Amino acid sequence: MDRVITRRRLVQVSAAGAGAVMLTPTLLRTALAAPPPLEKKAKYKVGFSQVEMNNPWRTAQTASLQAEAEELGHELVYTDAGGSEAKQISDVDSMIAQQVDLIFLAPRSEKPLAQAVLKAKAAGIPVILLDRDVDHSIAEPGEDYVCFIGSNFVQEGARAAEWLAETMDGKATIIELEGTTGSSPAIDRQKGFRDYLAGTYVPEDNGGMPASVPAGGFPDMQIIASQTGDFARDEGRQVFETLYQANPTANAVYAHNDEMALGAIAALEAAGKVPGQDVIIVSVDGSRDALQAIIDGKLGATVECNPRFGPKAFETMEQYANGEEIPEMIINPDRFFDATNAEEFIDEAY
Ligand code: AHR
Repeated sequence: MDRVITRRRLVQVSAAGAGAVMLTPTLLRTALAAPPPLEKKAKYKVGFSQVEMNNPWRTAQTASLQAEAEELGHELVYTDAGGSEAKQISDVDSMIAQQVDLIFLAPRSEKPLAQAVLKAKAAGIPVILLDRDVDHSIAEPGEDYVCFIGSNFVQEGARAAEWLAETMDGKATIIELEGTTGSSPAIDRQKGFRDYLAGTYVPEDNGGMPASVPAGGFPDMQIIASQTGDFARDEGRQVFETLYQANPTANAVYAHNDEMALGAIAALEAAGKVPGQDVIIVSVDGSRDALQAIIDGKLGATVECNPRFGPKAFETMEQYANGEEIPEMIINPDRFFDATNAEEFIDEAY
């Protein structure tokens, strides 16, 4: 997927005009070069389409959106797709039918949900993507949706690789637990990790972190197995169990989120191994359970992916209604947690 953002000249169109155009979403995309505008109002009816509620990260994200909507007095039409793309597409359809003013969408995967973005645009409803992106060859920020707000997942993967390479002195046999297939965090966390180890990571394209990668990368850091655990603890446990049985020489794990890392820790303990000693584990998110696992010496480190989107999401909505220029990609800064600071930050974790 091409993630290079091309800035196009924005053409303002009225919401009424957008709603009246009878074209397919694909044709409509070429006809209207800007997301639908948002009328300025004191109170809005806002949709929030959540992908699933199967882990603490999702619970924290939903709570943050709900708390901010309540604080500001906006009506929040909330849906939980339960991890189903088909359900999430119909959730967006339902929000369109209810004529919400704007939709916050956390898309399960890049391609199918890009079509939902185009449908909302065709109905004259602006969309702001939260935490996951869609395929830019189908729908583009600043054109088909207002913007993406979330982390730089490529950078997260590279930071995990940097920590692991340093900790393992440049030599490891790694099992990778991937996130949901086709989702932007799974695609980009894999890319950042692999690019860093291959020596092809470009810091300047990813916020300058990690600052550099040794020429030639780390040829002795080898990923020997990689499979999706769908960002879920129990699936991560089961998948890791199978991969570890087939690859008992593995001495490191890279999990695309904390839940799958915690699943791997459970599987290792069930197999009589000592996580943190026999096998070194790094992941992404920064949940309370993960920070506790770091304190307990079972998890090595986790790259933060902050789920508290409420304030930024509603602030961006207001700015858009005010006609301010909105950056196409609004990137959350991420911290890094390991044995040096997990104790300090655990009380503020979710
Ligand atoms: O899109 C962000 C990812 O989705 C988080 O890392 C994960 O825990 C969540 O389900």
